[in-house]
Amino acid sequence: MKTALVNVFRATFGRAPEFISRAPGRIEFIGNHTDYNGGTVLGAAIDRGVWVALAKRDDGQRRWVSDQREGVVTLSAEGVARQSGVQSWVNYPLGVLAAMPTFGLRVPVGFDYLAMSDLPTGAGLSSSAALELASGLAFLAATQQRPSRETLVSVGKHAENHFVGVPCGILDQGVSGFGRKNHLVYIDCRGPRFSTVPLPDGAHFWIFNTHTKHALVDGLYAARHSECMAAAKTLGVGLLVEATPVTVRAAENTLAPAVFKRARHVVEEIARVEQASAALRAGDRAAVGKLLTASHRSSQSLFENSTAELDFLVDTLVGMPAVFGSRLTGGGFGGAVMALTSGDFGDAQAKAVSDAYEKRYGARPDVLHAQTGDGAALVTV
Ligand code: GLA
Repeated sequence: MKTALVNVFRATFGRAPEFISRAPGRIEFIGNHTDYNGGTVLGAAIDRGVWVALAKRDDGQRRWVSDQREGVVTLSAEGVARQSGVQSWVNYPLGVLAAMPTFGLRVPVGFDYLAMSDLPTGAGLSSSAALELASGLAFLAATQQRPSRETLVSVGKHAENHFVGVPCGILDQGVSGFGRKNHLVYIDCRGPRFSTVPLPDGAHFWIFNTHTKHALVDGLYAARHSECMAAAKTLGVGLLVEATPVTVRAAENTLAPAVFKRARHVVEEIARVEQASAALRAGDRAAVGKLLTASHRSSQSLFENSTAELDFLVDTLVGMPAVFGSRLTGGGFGGAVMALTSGDFGDAQAKAVSDAYEKRYGARPDVLHAQTGDGAALVTV
């Protein structure tokens, strides 16, 4: 990927890049919609991600190119307004630039910028957080600043919340920033505090991307966020993490029915994250798998962020002997399902799942046997 990146940069801008960075995509392992509720979550960085190459310019122009979109976007350094249409991908790095001063960081003025990705987009693997972190690292390198990894991650989240306009939590940026090969990243979102948990031997990830996406996915995410905040307010707590399954059940009659279901999902999901980390430490893949599937069932019935397509994949997968558990991964309302499997799950099994899906829905899901990988880093040019 690095050679391709350098070659495209040279072909586009007629010179070599000065800085190169890379940030991985992530799998949401367990902890669905727990992050912005102050809970805990487990995720894994994968070995695919977004690469950014950058070289400074001294005329104050910023030229933006992505291998995912046609053409060159040229903006002046003063041009930090939100972009729309085909240029809207630039909002992720622009949001990072807009966030940096909030964290006391200087921004580079003019530059040529190229982003390339080997991460499937729209697959629930968080290509946007990867783009934010890789961009942040390149901007920091260009201005010779080295803030902590925590700060880099917070800058990415700030960009997403305040510039892109999604009220997401810290999961995506946190896992992309703190990922480690053969490990899961455990985040206590209240700090936030980041640590890693080793993956048990013989645990494999398979991703099935349906390419379906609810037309209102961003609005639905924001609506769930509001319902969770409303539940916390009625329960008299700052965030749902301060409630428990017992206190939420006791408040059933004071919460609107939908709000009660959302709150139950969140507090029970936080409990599942804790159980999953204990089971992981004990190397008990079967117990972990059961929790993953329970998380999906809760998404289906309580958080209502699953879809018929995702449910079909989970139902098909959990009926197979080499599968420990399966669930939707990411925000939901379409996207992808992940399965935790033994090494006995291979291409033949994945094909059987895709065949069944195609028979039902007339299209094949994209299949990825995802390998874990390390977190965001600068790469030697
Ligand atoms: C998206 C958001 C995350 C998290 C998940 C749901 O991926 O970006 O912050 O809320 O949904 O767990």
